[in-house]
Amino acid sequence: MRNQAFIVTKEHRRFTEFANAVRKEKTIGICHGAAGVGKTNSARRYANWDALEPYITEWGPRGDHDAKFYALANRSRTVFYTPEVLCRPKDLMHDIDYWQIKVGICADEHIHANEPTPRKMGNMTSHVELLIIDEAERLTPTALELLRDRHDRTSLAMILIGMPGIDERFRHYPQLYSRLGFSHQYRALGREELLFVLDRHWKRLGRTLDPDDFTDAQAIAAIERITRGNFRLLERLFPQINRVLKINQLDTITDDVIEAAASILVIGN
Ligand SMILES: Nc1ncnc2c1ncn2[C@@H]1O[C@H](COP(=O)(O)OP(=O)(O)OP(=O)(O)O)[C@@H](O)[C@H]1O
Ligand SMILES: [Mg+2]
Repeated sequence: MRNQAFIVTKEHRRFTEFANAVRKEKTIGICHGAAGVGKTNSARRYANWDALEPYITEWGPRGDHDAKFYALANRSRTVFYTPEVLCRPKDLMHDIDYWQIKVGICADEHIHANEPTPRKMGNMTSHVELLIIDEAERLTPTALELLRDRHDRTSLAMILIGMPGIDERFRHYPQLYSRLGFSHQYRALGREELLFVLDRHWKRLGRTLDPDDFTDAQAIAAIERITRGNFRLLERLFPQINRVLKINQLDTITDDVIEAAASILVIGN
């Protein structure tokens, strides 16, 4: 789903401000929010990860297109990492080192782009200013302890992303908890933005949304009720709406169509 156009929402801007603050203060921050509201997407966007991850993974022979990635790495100076389920703490730290060095090298290339080579290599990892860990509930107590230790020794800023209640869980680790600088709640889309997103969906289905039109207003109300502004639910609902329209040879997206589409989906919350 990563190819779908990213929408710069208010929540994304709030996330960016939060990440910048954590980074500036060199602290540890927690970002929590319900499943599917857009936490992962925001964090990857912040880290330019959709571009950097494949580039670093491939790490092919250097060429002309590299400068673009060096500039991205230099701008974000962030590592985004998702621990595996049941990850071993040692592997986790090893992986993080790996990404930190690679992003550091890229940033370093950008910083020294106009200097003659070969030049003296410094400490690449120090270019990275922020580590974002997604799915942070997968971290074991040992992993959390290792991360805290890393933070203490290098002042690397960190963001731990998880579901609601993750901040409560971290309360049980006083050493980590006492170092937390910020706790940030990632919220669902507000009404205005929901309308904006719906407008795009309507267009994608070749229609125009008019909130002042009675039928459209009812459709909007139904979607609001069903998805509560949750991005993932919205993304899943629309293919079904499309299906219902096609099967029934309908032209208009009514609240009935939406109810029928929603009834096909398993919506658990
Ligand atoms: N800013 C955005 N623009 C467009 N689509 C988005 C955006 N944010 C999220 N989405 C859509 O919503 C889906 C869920 O987003 P995401 O995976 O980031 O949620 P999450 O909060 O990380 O959920 P989970 O807690 O389950 O990991 C994405 O696959 C994408 O389709
Ligand atoms: Mg996620």
